[in-house]
Amino acid sequence: MKVRKLVIPVAGLGTRFLPVTKAVPKAMMPILDKPVIQYTLESAIKSGITDVCIILNHNQDLIKDYFSHNLELERKLIEEGKSKVLDSLNYIIDNLNITYIYQEEPLGSGHAIMLAKDFVGKEPFMVMYGDGFFLGKYPICMDLQKAYTMYDANIIGASEVELQEVNKYGMLILDEHDSDRILGVVEKPSLRETPSLLASNGTYILKPSIFKELEKIKKTGGEYLFTDALFRLMRKEEFYVGRTDNTFYDIGNMNGYLKANNAAYKFLK
Ligand code: UTP
Repeated sequence: MKVRKLVIPVAGLGTRFLPVTKAVPKAMMPILDKPVIQYTLESAIKSGITDVCIILNHNQDLIKDYFSHNLELERKLIEEGKSKVLDSLNYIIDNLNITYIYQEEPLGSGHAIMLAKDFVGKEPFMVMYGDGFFLGKYPICMDLQKAYTMYDANIIGASEVELQEVNKYGMLILDEHDSDRILGVVEKPSLRETPSLLASNGTYILKPSIFKELEKIKKTGGEYLFTDALFRLMRKEEFYVGRTDNTFYDIGNMNGYLKANNAAYKFLK
């Protein structure tokens, strides 16, 4: 069965990328000529997602404005024969039902995703972060859907990284008898101790049972972390790898942002 729903929490303060994130949400930072979240939504549509819930804060209404038709602008562009410039954006507006939910306080990614409980209902759903950017042969969301169709279980999207990079990511511990089955995640291991070269890339397909775990988690470092709920669910339910050849970029810091733009320029232009 294909997953239809996607939750994207974007309500964080983006402190690693201040001052620009005071005015521009991380999800709206441009990669070439489009905001990063637009690539995520394009990938989602191609994979069969129809309904998206964006969790945002009250300073981020420009996300809502961006994903709405601007009839005056569109009329003007048609008159000037330039209507094509908005095609990629209108494709999203016309093909996705987007619901917006406000997170009143930045209480963490777990708290933000919890707000989508009613939106999700009883179905499996996809989660992508607002600051993730992916480049690869197939849309990242398609790779996740493929793994879900195969295993009908919780999926963690994972990209292979170089050995020198493992100390930056959550690295997957895999079952030695079934290399797609995830037994756990080690946060930022040393090069010698890493259990694999597969890094969790911040994309998931989850059963709605994650919400029971989200209800139980306590604050870590002042925030309700989504990964704390994931680790709890991992003790009860099966998790499999959503393998992808996509390289992922965390655009939430300047280094990742510049790398993403350079790679996108080479790959897409
Ligand atoms: P991050 O920790 O990467 O984002 O959260 P952040 O908190 O905005 O960044 P820094 O550390 O201050 O620079 C992962 C995802 O969860 C969202 C973020 O917007 C990001 O997409 N998030 C985080 C929320 O929606 N709400 C929160 O309270 C925290």
